[in-house]
Parts: sequence; C-alpha cells; structure tokens
Amino acid sequence: MKPPARQRGYAEDPSLAATSVPMITADLFRDPSDRPAPIRLGDGATLLPGFARDRATALLAALEEVLRQAPLRRMRTPGGHVMTVATSCCGDRGWTSDADGYRYSALDPASGRPWPPMPEVFAALATAAAAAAGYPAFAADTCLINRYGDGAKLSPHQDRDERDLSHPIVSLSLGLPARFQFGDPHRRERLLRTTLEHGDVVVWGGASRLAYHGVLPLAAGRHPMTGDCRYNLSFRRAG
Ligand code: SIN
Ligand code: FE2
Repeated sequence: MKPPARQRGYAEDPSLAATSVPMITADLFRDPSDRPAPIRLGDGATLLPGFARDRATALLAALEEVLRQAPLRRMRTPGGHVMTVATSCCGDRGWTSDADGYRYSALDPASGRPWPPMPEVFAALATAAAAAAGYPAFAADTCLINRYGDGAKLSPHQDRDERDLSHPIVSLSLGLPARFQFGDPHRRERLLRTTLEHGDVVVWGGASRLAYHGVLPLAAGRHPMTGDCRYNLSFRRAG
C-alpha cells in the first residue's frame, strides 16, 4: 500500500537537512492550507499567525515541566525596578537581570543549578518557525520564558545580550492576547502595534535584529489553556 502523501510543512525546507533538527520537526509544525499567510512587520521581521496553535498542548506541557524545575520569579532590573513580568529560562544558559546588569548565565541564580534542558518540542518549534521566516538552520540554545499577569508589561527595548547577532529571535505567544509594539533599531518611538494571539510566532533578524519592541499592559481575561495569563517564549542563540 502506498503511504499517504504528506502535506508540505513549514519545516520541510531541504536546507534544514544539514542541521541537527529533531526528526519530529517536519510533522509537528505543518502548514495547513487554512493557516493565515505570514505578515511582514519590518525588514527581516515576520509574524507567523497561528504557527504553533496546533501544538499548544505539547508546548504547554513541556513548559510546565520546565517551570517545575526552574520556577518563575520576578527579577530586578539594574535600575532597581522589579519587573512586572515573571521569568524563567531553559537551555544551555539563561537570561538574568540583577543590580549588576543583564547577562546570560549557565546556572539558575535562584537554585545554583543548571537551567532545565530545552524540551525537544521547543527546539523544533524554534527551528521550524525561523525557517518559515527565512532563517534556515536556526538552533536555539536558550529560551527566555515570560509570564504576563493582569497589567504586566515590557517597555520597549532591544534584545542585545546575545553574542552573535546574526541569529534571529523567535518569539512564541501562548494564552491571553497581547498588544505588541515593534519598530526599528534606531528609535523607541512610533512603534507599530499588533495583537499577538495564542499560537502566534514572531521572528526578527537581519536588519530588524536590534529592533525596539515591547508589550503594552496585559488586559485581564481568561484563556482556556492558560487561565488568567499570557506566556511568551523567546528562543535565542546566545552563546
Ligand atoms: C520580550 O521582548 O522578551 C518578550 C516579547 C513578548 O512578550 O511578546
Ligand atoms: Fe525582547
């Protein structure tokens, strides 16, 4: 009997063959014909609406396991403010902030232990979404987890603590919708605003790698999969 024809997926780009992408990638993040087209947010920046929606259950289960090992905490900025967003990390290193500044560290400062390993479903999503946005062969080595409760926000900033800025940022939204601001590398003002929904992925690199971006205060609500919050998982290559 002939095997059923496989749908062509976002992740089946042949240029990925040379990378260590887990085998599951191709089947996980398919491109169903009803998925909305990618939306350009800037030069090198793309919103992939609903890219991860079909895998949200697996992603949230993996997230729960990571957070069991490295619980969410509210970090202090170098300026002395406590962030309204609660964070954690997984992967080879994790992004941290304290009075001394922002950096990546191999150990979770809260426990003194290494960060939890990056779940395979996270790595697969990051690689597949990057490829769909024009960045083949992206392999994340860290994931920053942000949890937004009612009113939590992130002021416009650049992601610039990674060593090699030729790798893109891959940013996944789960749960409640958020108003996302996105601009260019040169100014914090006049950012475009778009709503990020459950399962959306934004990828920015190239000329937009240092684009300012932020999140407006989260509106209260309830989501069937995350309750009263939104998660943002941002995948980076930091080392
Ligand atoms: C971030 O900039 O780290 C998070 C962006 C988001 O929550 O969408
Ligand atoms: Fe950021």
